[in-house]
Amino acid sequence: MRVVTTLEDLRRARAALPEPVGFVPTMGYLHEGHLALVRCARRENASVVVSIFVNPTQFGPDEDLATYPRDLERDLALLEAEGVDLVWTPTPEVMYPPGFQTWVTVEELTRELEGAYRPGHFRGVTTVVTKLLAAVQPQRAYFGQKDAQQARVIIQMVRDLNLPVEIVVCPTVREPDGLAMSSRNTYLNPEERRAATVLYRALQAAKQAYDAGERDAERLRAIMREVLAQEPLARVQYVSCADPDTLRELEGPVERALLSMAVFVGSTRLIDNLLLGVEGGVYPRYRPPGLTP
Ligand code: PAJ
Repeated sequence: MRVVTTLEDLRRARAALPEPVGFVPTMGYLHEGHLALVRCARRENASVVVSIFVNPTQFGPDEDLATYPRDLERDLALLEAEGVDLVWTPTPEVMYPPGFQTWVTVEELTRELEGAYRPGHFRGVTTVVTKLLAAVQPQRAYFGQKDAQQARVIIQMVRDLNLPVEIVVCPTVREPDGLAMSSRNTYLNPEERRAATVLYRALQAAKQAYDAGERDAERLRAIMREVLAQEPLARVQYVSCADPDTLRELEGPVERALLSMAVFVGSTRLIDNLLLGVEGGVYPRYRPPGLTP
């Protein structure tokens, strides 16, 4: 496994890799959710590239950029064990040199859900993912359903910009008690860690109702809110039952729905979601027209 930092070294190492190349962008502090993406990429490609970069432009001024957990040595050992070929660990200076002034913005989709509470977040994500894709030039890139809106926004961006890369979305990996794995779970103290299962319990309650025939969007939101209200350590930011394609809030009877929420447990902001009425519970992979499989 090679580890490179500069664009020059990345390009040289990338050019020597057997194709197709699968790419997994991350911010590090890796867990089983990230490793599931790596394994999926490993199965489908001759080579696997992983990037580790805590992207400053996707953090708001009051967010956790300074305290975001990091452990490069451990991350590299995990990736080595997964048979990754190349790891790119760019510095902020590599990605955002002085004078940087070009941004990629997906418009409507990023006004909804997370975008409404994290202004500028998706502009940072889409800009950095564009730069990572341009540098690595993978045939396929892998994203987690955990960040459903991010996956939806990236697919839109790849379509709109005709980027020659297939986007694969992999299921959310959870702890045995249902908590979606996240690098930010490390912020939770033991009491908060127990309370954090309320997100999954709320989603499951709504899914059970849906499976039993409940189709009313407002009723599904109410079921999630009722479960969340029972957890004193949880403070709800939003609860949503939205169209999986437009991410706009649904009213009345629903067939396909993205149930999602953002909840503070103590001072830690957690998100989770469930995709109802969609095969496999994940966004289908997006393969641009004319791209050979
Ligand atoms: P990060 O939070 O490190 O996540 C990297 C990838 O892992 C994302 O595609 C995310 O959806 C996926 N992931 C995280 N937790 C997961 C889980 N429990 N199950 C399945 N997949 C999971 O998302 C980012 O970094 C950044 O925004 C990035 C795309 C790297 C751009 O900076």
